[in-house]
Amino acid sequence: MHMRFPSVGGDLSKESKESKTKNEVSITMSGEGEDMQELRHIPVALQRCIDLLSPSIERAISLRGSAVVIDATLGLGGHTRALLEKFPELHVIGFDRDKAALSLAKENVAPYQERLTAIHAVYDEISSTLHDLKISHIDGALFDLGVSSMQLDEGDRGFAYSHDAPLDMRMDQSQGKTAQNILDTYERGDLIRILRAYGDEKFAPRIADNIIAARAQGTLKSTKALAELIKESIPAPARRTGGNPAKRTFQALRIEVNQELEVLERAIPAAMEALIVHGRIVVMSYQSLEDKIVKSFFTKACTSTTPRNLPVELPNSAAKFSYVITGSESATESEISENPRAQSMRLRAIEKVAA
Ligand SMILES: C[S@@+](CC[C@H](N)C(=O)[O-])C[C@H]1O[C@@H](n2cnc3c(N)ncnc32)[C@H](O)[C@@H]1O
Repeated sequence: MHMRFPSVGGDLSKESKESKTKNEVSITMSGEGEDMQELRHIPVALQRCIDLLSPSIERAISLRGSAVVIDATLGLGGHTRALLEKFPELHVIGFDRDKAALSLAKENVAPYQERLTAIHAVYDEISSTLHDLKISHIDGALFDLGVSSMQLDEGDRGFAYSHDAPLDMRMDQSQGKTAQNILDTYERGDLIRILRAYGDEKFAPRIADNIIAARAQGTLKSTKALAELIKESIPAPARRTGGNPAKRTFQALRIEVNQELEVLERAIPAAMEALIVHGRIVVMSYQSLEDKIVKSFFTKACTSTTPRNLPVELPNSAAKFSYVITGSESATESEISENPRAQSMRLRAIEKVAA
């Protein structure tokens, strides 16, 4: 395995600047000041993720003296920090499409900054990034999907129906269409399609009709206006069950804005392909559409292609992965009580067993 890790420290040398891949982010060091208090958020299933990835990392360190893990969703760097703390021989390649998250992660991981390569990119760029960094294999990959608590709490991002804000919902605010663009331009049929497919919204046609009517009046310009429109679109008896009726439409718009399912469908196989034999991939999903994609890739990878009715395994048909967790795991009750975000989490993990 050829590894070359450009520094991500605040003061990059000319040489390392030139060797940066296009999206690498420089880290500005900062002390453990007041801001760091806010970074001490609770990463979901932290110890479980560390435990699941540890055997692959330990194996690599004992064989080669070092290990490389991808954190596809760096977020505030909670999982990465714990991994770097535990393994002084570990290097993490951390992806995030949100520049604000990367800045916070950089602060959180500052004590270990020379062992983090932070990349501002969508995680479906795993293969090209590893190629640019001249890394042929990785020992582990971690995906902690969705938005972070920081993104939900930042009222102006538009992710939360509880904060009045512009209808943005982009994880990467430097590019791409916003939720407002979708609401202003999508045809009725496309609005219904995304509300049904990504939000499982029964009242999609009524919501779509009201969105189109509101366009003409120019009244749909904020999360509050959208939440109100959704409420009015849903018959009163249906509003009384299943939590806030805005939840499904907000989820659908966020998935469409960020193309979340398409990029996940490209990223999971790319990470699986990049793993070395005995490397592990660990994924935490927070909604069923993502979990379905992960489950489908993992099931296929852990299943022999020999037809079930044959008595012997055909050559080259053995599964290349095996389950580390059979099925999926949820967060523990005590974790959910401390961190409500963990409630919907589904954790899956597999290990590569053959090249
Ligand atoms: C749940 S948070 C991760 C939290 C992190 N594990 C921690 O402990 O701080 C998910 C992060 O992944 C990022 N993200 C989501 N989808 C992404 C994608 N397709 N490509 C890159 N980053 C993504 C989000 O911007 C967010 O910061």
